[in-house]
Amino acid sequence: MFNRRQFLYLTGAGALSALSAHRWPFTSAAIGSSQQTDFSPDVELSLTASPSEIQIFPGRPTTVWQYSGHVIKGDPNSLLNLANSYLGPIIRVRQHQKVRIHFKNDLPARSIIHWHGLHVPAEMDGHPKDVITSGQTFTYEFDVLNRAGTYWYHPHPHGRTGHQVYGGLAGLFLVSDAEEKTLKLPTDQQDIPLVIQDRAFDQDNQLVYLPRGMHDSMTGMLGDSICVNGKPDFKLSVKNRAYRLRILNGSNSRIYKLAWSDGMPLTVIATDGGLLEKPIQKKYVVLGPAERIELWADFSKYPVGTSLELVSKYFEAAMQGSAMGPRRGMTAGENLPNGAPFKILRVDVDKKETETRSLPQKLSAIERYQPQDADNKDNPRHFSFFMRHMHGLINGRTFRMQEVADDERIRLNSTEIWELANDDRRMGMMMMPMPHPVHLHGKQFQVIERRGALHNGYVDEGWKDTVLLMPGERVRIVTNFTDYKGLFLYHCHILEHGDMGMMRNYLVT
Ligand code: C2O
Ligand code: CU
Ligand code: CU
Repeated sequence: MFNRRQFLYLTGAGALSALSAHRWPFTSAAIGSSQQTDFSPDVELSLTASPSEIQIFPGRPTTVWQYSGHVIKGDPNSLLNLANSYLGPIIRVRQHQKVRIHFKNDLPARSIIHWHGLHVPAEMDGHPKDVITSGQTFTYEFDVLNRAGTYWYHPHPHGRTGHQVYGGLAGLFLVSDAEEKTLKLPTDQQDIPLVIQDRAFDQDNQLVYLPRGMHDSMTGMLGDSICVNGKPDFKLSVKNRAYRLRILNGSNSRIYKLAWSDGMPLTVIATDGGLLEKPIQKKYVVLGPAERIELWADFSKYPVGTSLELVSKYFEAAMQGSAMGPRRGMTAGENLPNGAPFKILRVDVDKKETETRSLPQKLSAIERYQPQDADNKDNPRHFSFFMRHMHGLINGRTFRMQEVADDERIRLNSTEIWELANDDRRMGMMMMPMPHPVHLHGKQFQVIERRGALHNGYVDEGWKDTVLLMPGERVRIVTNFTDYKGLFLYHCHILEHGDMGMMRNYLVT
């Protein structure tokens, strides 16, 4: 087996041209539709997706695809641009506002925006059947029904979601509400979004995507540069006081085992669907793709001059030790397999400021579903996720654009238990069992049971829209399918798995 240096030495230019063949983008386009209705928005925004260049490293700028936007109507703070980042602007709205967003596609490819975690009508959810072509506009209109929380948006064209998100298309969607306001959590400069993503760059500073083709699709794309808000080697300069850190794992497939380098526990105050009932302390938190946590980070005990790191600790990724994988050391991404330890960002405590806030011991009221309240309590739906023959399958079926099976039909207003199982191991066909972070569109849910857990880094409390299942794990979730009829997706949020068909529709009627 060759290590990387030997490989480059032996094959020279061949290895480099193999890499540039996977230099991101490499693309072409096709068809779609757009719409307009009657609706009086409190906030009206435009969001355009287009090719762009960002100076990430010295030398040649990096070609990316990026959302840019502006406020047409309403609070000018509804949109916040991140300086010199490929990430899209942060959208900030209040619960109960009516929002209209004009999405203009200026990419050389079909696309559509999905509002991850938001409870919106099916036609406004960004289903892949609603993709628009280059030059077209899709107008979204919806009421913000969600509670306060850290949600996000990203493209959802079938088969191309991984490619487009990897290229830079993603942004945060923050909702605030009255309950949250009463808590007096840190705001403004003390309310910090942290979007964690891994990327692979070539010697020319260009993104590299799926350099090993199908093999990378199976594991999901992994990069060896850890970016925070679009920047590698991210540094956060703070005062010695309390902060609210909103963390999104915006990676295509990487899982993070988050911890503070000095052993301070993580104080978790919120997850995907907003605030927990009360803060919880964790030595570490395992965050799968698309999941969010919010931390109360109190730096007041650190003297000015202290530095610490947010790190990802070693974990057993379960998919290593593959007998079938290609030789190691062939690509940048392989230098940092899932589960390897690394630094995510450095915090420098460099200013003194007397703290006036303290952590509220009660954060929010969450109405908990009881399993016995479910309409299908005696017969929960079961969905089994596994890969077979290079296809991503759910209950043995792969994605078809409009297809809905009998066990995917839901009655409006019913409360249901779903059992989600990662069966890669049980199915035995798979040489490398994979994690599957399972996501439901349309509704936040509650986790009521988890079996086969490999670690205790999960935050299953509160409202969730994505739940990480390591090989062999199964969870039961419960939710109530209210308000909106129509076609919604559920899928694995390793974006390459979704693109390989580990995605299905459920239909609410
Ligand atoms: Cu972020 Cu279909 O999801
Ligand atoms: Cu979603
Ligand atoms: Cu998966």
